[in-house]
This record gives sequence, C-alpha cells and structure tokens, in this order.
Amino acid sequence: MKNPLQTFGFQVLTSSKTGEPALPRLSRRGFIALSASLGSSCSMISSAKPDAGADDLATVDPASAPARTTANTTYRTPKVQGPVPRNPDLNLPSSGASSGITFSRVSVAQPYIAITFDDGPHPKNTPRLLDMLRERNIKATFYVIGRNVDLYPNVLRRTVSEGHEIGNHTYNHPILSKLGDSTVRDELTKCRDAVARAAGVKPRTLRPPYGALLQRQREWIHRELEYPTIMWSVDPLDWKRPGASVVTSRILSNTTPGAIVLAHDLHASTVDAMPATLDGLLRKGFKFVTVSQLLAMGSQTAPGQVASGQ
Ligand code: NI
Repeated sequence: MKNPLQTFGFQVLTSSKTGEPALPRLSRRGFIALSASLGSSCSMISSAKPDAGADDLATVDPASAPARTTANTTYRTPKVQGPVPRNPDLNLPSSGASSGITFSRVSVAQPYIAITFDDGPHPKNTPRLLDMLRERNIKATFYVIGRNVDLYPNVLRRTVSEGHEIGNHTYNHPILSKLGDSTVRDELTKCRDAVARAAGVKPRTLRPPYGALLQRQREWIHRELEYPTIMWSVDPLDWKRPGASVVTSRILSNTTPGAIVLAHDLHASTVDAMPATLDGLLRKGFKFVTVSQLLAMGSQTAPGQVASGQ
C-alpha cells in the first residue's frame, strides 16, 4: 500500500531492523514540511485533524528534529514577469491609538487593508511570496510558528529585512483554548524568543492557531504580554486547497476597507493565487498596510461584526 506520506511527495524511509515493524521515517526536512501541511491551518479547528494515515506520524518525535541554521543557498529570486500594479509608499505609524484586546477588522476612513500569512516561514513558498510582495511594494504581516522560525531563520530574516511585520502564532501551533495558562505562556514566549533570535525583532500582535482563544485568555495575554489578539474578516479557506482562482475570487469579493485578510504561506496553491489576488486588490484601489499600521489608524471593531461597507 502506498504510504500516505508519499501522497505529499515526501520520501519515506523504513526501518531495516529485522523483526521490527517497518516504522515510517522521514528526513527532517520532510517531517517539518509534512507537519506544517497537516496541522497548521488557522481558520478551523477541524483542520487540525490530519489527513488519513497521519497516525503513522506518531512515531516521529518533533523534538528530535534539530534546528536548521544554515542559509537557504539554493533559492534564486526569479525575474519580474512584466509590469504589475504597485502599492503606494505608505510611511504610516505602527504604534499608538488603539488599546483593544481583539480585532477582526478596523474602521478606517480610507481603503486600507492588511493581508496576513500564517504558519510559515516555509523554505520555498515564503520566498516566492516575498518576491510577489516586493514587486508590488506591499508590506504584509506574517504570523509565524516559532518551530518553523528555528528551522528557517534566514527566511524570517529576509521577511523582516523587506519591511514586513512579524506576528506571534505560537511555537507548536496548539489549540490554546484547551491549554493551561503556563503552557500558553510558554508557547507565546518561545515563539517570541525564536523571532528575536532569528531577526532581532519582537512580534507585536498574536494570532491564535485556529482562532481558538478564550476571552479570559485574550485578556491576560493582552495585560501581561501586551499582544492584541488579531482575528480576520476575510477567510478564503485556502487551507482546503480549493484552487488558486477560487482563493482569488473569495478574497476579491469579500474584502472591504479595514479588512484583515487571512491566508497561509505554507500552501503552494495559496501563493499561486497571490499575483492575481494582489493585483486585483490594488486595481480596486485598496492600499496595503501592516496589521500594526492598520490598528494604529482605526478604532476597534468587535470580532464577527459585519463590515460597514465602503
Ligand atoms: Ni495557523
């Protein structure tokens, strides 16, 4: 039977010891890519359920994967494929104003939006996305998983050096609402420390994996760690891999001024959707800012509140 891991395109190694069941083993790189693929989508608890056959992964210990510290030397920036729309230069403040605990969108006077990418950094998809953003002068916000930061610190460094904002998405991507306060605190501080180690910056906001965070937790985290909890107002459900054109059309049809758009840079199909998505949003007149810039210019809107329209 074909090992389900192979459906993801990973090489599967098996134990050669006689008399033992053949336990599936992955290269370290394969394990990380697979674990990110299986359990990282932010928008639905149900997405935490791995695909069929992933029980085999129980034999792979995440703690045994050593941190990668070498450079991404194989990646080459592709040439720009012709003229693309450009986001205007926006030298806006990223601090001050709002003191809210949770945001899913922001009330703004102009068509500012923030696009966010969760679950990276990814060694291939994130650099590809960074090229697309750079071509268009767009600054995005990346809610990174600390574990992936430790594996690909150079991708994070490039992300920071190109002006993007980094947000905290925990170290191991657990369901925080099911965890005790000390474990939650560890998840957030470990991610924060990984980001600081890799790129010398600290996350300023939090996005809970799967959006799962109790109000009581949001309050103590805001009080203690000074993170506002950032949800979203546009969710293309890209983690279900509906195809690039569907991701694009969902984002284009649902984005309004002040929107916070959710996407995942670990999925190749999401990144495939970005040229048309970003160009479409720019042609509609939207201006991209980071989450902190968006918060600084607006007043709080409660999660789930319907956008007031343009
Ligand atoms: Ni996530």
